[in-house]
Amino acid sequence: MERTFIILKPNAVRRGLIGEILKRFEQRGIKIVGLKFLWMTQEQCEKLYEPHKGKPFYEELVNFMMSGPVVAVVVEAPRVIEMVRHIVGATDPLKAEAGTIRGEFALTVTKNLIHASDSVENAEREMSIFFSPEDLIEYKLDI
Ligand code: CMP
Repeated sequence: MERTFIILKPNAVRRGLIGEILKRFEQRGIKIVGLKFLWMTQEQCEKLYEPHKGKPFYEELVNFMMSGPVVAVVVEAPRVIEMVRHIVGATDPLKAEAGTIRGEFALTVTKNLIHASDSVENAEREMSIFFSPEDLIEYKLDI
């Protein structure tokens, strides 16, 4: 079973889209195993976006991610990394397909509402910034 890491960005929270976004994963049968509402620290933000350090959008991205509270989520399902990215849509909302979260609700690349890990290695690295192993809950979904 695969796990991945998701963040609902500050504009998703400010726009009242937490329920709308989590619903899309739940209705697909994806299991939530970790859930935290938090205001990111500079240290957490720098760790999360370490691979983007030095890129032209880095400063704007970090400032935006610390502009309000976020929802950090760990989910579990078969092939869940690919499945979540399919539900989320392309990074640039202009290229995100209709029906995806970004394709329906996002306007700009920085404020693209949601982050989702793109590989097993990044999922492990990113979830460990926010969750310790005992924060992740094992249970069975009902049918
Ligand atoms: P996210 O999935 O959080 O991962 C990195 C983020 O950088 C990305 O979503 C965008 O919000 C942001 N970003 C801003 N500008 C760009 C860009 N030109 N290319 C890629 N990502 C960008």
